[in-house]
Order: sequence, then structure tokens, then C-alpha cells
Amino acid sequence: MNPNKALWEKGDFTRIAESMRKSGESLVQDLGISEGEKVLDLGCGDGTTALPAARLGADVLGVDIASNLVEAGNRRAEREGLSNCRFEEGDASNLDGLADGSFDFVVSIFGAMFAPRPLDVAKEMVRVTRLGGTIVMGNWIPNDPTLVAQILRISSAYSPPPPNGFISPMLWGVEDNVVERFGNAGVPEDRISFKRDTYTFEYPTRPSSLLEVFRTYYGPTMNAFEAAEAEGRSADLQDELEALFNEQNASSNPDTTSIPATFLRVDVLV
Ligand SMILES: C[S@@+](CC[C@H](N)C(=O)[O-])C[C@H]1O[C@@H](n2cnc3c(N)ncnc32)[C@H](O)[C@@H]1O
Repeated sequence: MNPNKALWEKGDFTRIAESMRKSGESLVQDLGISEGEKVLDLGCGDGTTALPAARLGADVLGVDIASNLVEAGNRRAEREGLSNCRFEEGDASNLDGLADGSFDFVVSIFGAMFAPRPLDVAKEMVRVTRLGGTIVMGNWIPNDPTLVAQILRISSAYSPPPPNGFISPMLWGVEDNVVERFGNAGVPEDRISFKRDTYTFEYPTRPSSLLEVFRTYYGPTMNAFEAAEAEGRSADLQDELEALFNEQNASSNPDTTSIPATFLRVDVLV
């Protein structure tokens, strides 16, 4: 099976996404989406940003490589009676079934960054956006001191080296790479803007419980624990991650979790 698909179908990202709903809603509120506009959410998961866009009256398509998340998204939309929001399986590097210029907004929050072949991803996002439309990406930043970059940094020290030719998803968090990728897709630099923004992971119990959710359901963390286990080092990985989650917790009550994480927001005017 495609290893990228296998990675995300391995766990159940819904369990992590439940801690990200508030930030997803705030981000969508900030996009300026109007009723009737066509929105593509790429690497949409179970709809953390797709559902809020549909609640604003947009006509939303969520595309994700993981079939379990597509099913979960469709169930969530159905439960809310959002007939203007549907989810289907697809790969951000090849959106063959979608017509040129068919969306007003293409949104990808920590989604398309995980697809292989970033040059193809940028080309496909530009191709399906109408002239005058907007692409918005949220990308984690390499070496950033906050939660997600640190989880990935710590995990990599316990994992086997990536295969030859592997391009780190985190390079989508470096402005020069983003400019190069969209430049290759025909977008001039002055149509791309950047800002640092924050997503907050909210969980009703202590940080170690949220770590347990990552360990049990987040594909990259599951893989890191499997690799660490094989080397007899899983307790060390657990200790490092537990220290990280506790340090990063900004909640005034240590029995609840509120961890802010910085990301690079990219806006592209097509
Ligand atoms: C960190 S999750 C984020 C999900 C969602 N955007 C959210 O904010 O909750 C990454 C998502 O990207 C999806 N993904 C990874 N590679 C992909 C690809 N090549 N094409 C489409 N989706 C992909 C995964 O299945 C997963 O749902």
C-alpha cells in the first residue's frame, strides 16, 4: 500500500482532532469565506476546518488520502445536517478528478504538507483554484520550539532514517521553499504572504492523557514508539514526550491541557 496512506490510516486522527476544534473554527472565521463559495479542504482529516466552512454556507469538498477519515468526515457532516459538505478520498499530489479553476478557496491546514511530491502538490492546488481565488496553508515549522515540531524532532531520534529521496513535510514551514514551490507552479512571490499563527490543543484532562492519545492514535507517534520498542527505548521516548507535553502546557490548572503551537500560515492569491 502507498506508505503515506498507510501512515494516516494506521491510527485514528479524529482522536487528536478533537483537541483542535476551537482553533480550526477560529482560523476559518478569519478566512473571509462567504455563503455559496466553493471551498476545497485538502488533507481535511475528519473536517476540523471543512465543517466550520460549511456552517458559513460555503459549498465544501474535503479530500483526504485516509479512507477512515473520509468516512468520519461524512458522518460528522451528516450528523450536523450539512448537505453542503462532503468528503472523498484523494491524493493532494494528484487531483485528477477536479476541474481547473473550480474553487474560490483551497485550504490545507497541516494536510497537503504531508503529501509526497511537494512540487506536484503546489501545482495541483494552483490548478484547481480559480483566477483571483485564494490558497491558504497551515504548515508546522521545522525546529520551532512548540509542541508539534518538537514531537516530530524527538520522534525522529527514535526512528530509522527516512528512505533516500524523502522530502521532509516540515520544509513546507520554510518560507523560501514555499516561494520556490508556488513559483514553480506559476505564482509570483508578491502574491504569497506569510504570518506566524497559533493552534491550541485543548484537552479536558492532564497533558499525559493527551500524550496517550498521540501514542495510541497518531500514526507518526505510533511508528516512533514501535521503532523505540524494537530498540528497548520506548520508556525513554515516553519520558521525553511527557516532559515536553508538561512543559508546554499553558493551562492554569495542571489537570487540564491547553498547549499552544506555532505554525506558518501561507496565503496565496492565484
Ligand atoms: C495532521 S492531519 C490534519 C487533518 C486536518 N487538516 C485537521 O486540521 O484536522 C494530516 C492529514 O493529511 C492527510 N494526508 C496526508 N497525506 C495526504 C495526501 N497525499 N493527500 C491527501 N491527504 C493527505 C492525512 O490523512 C491527515 O488527515
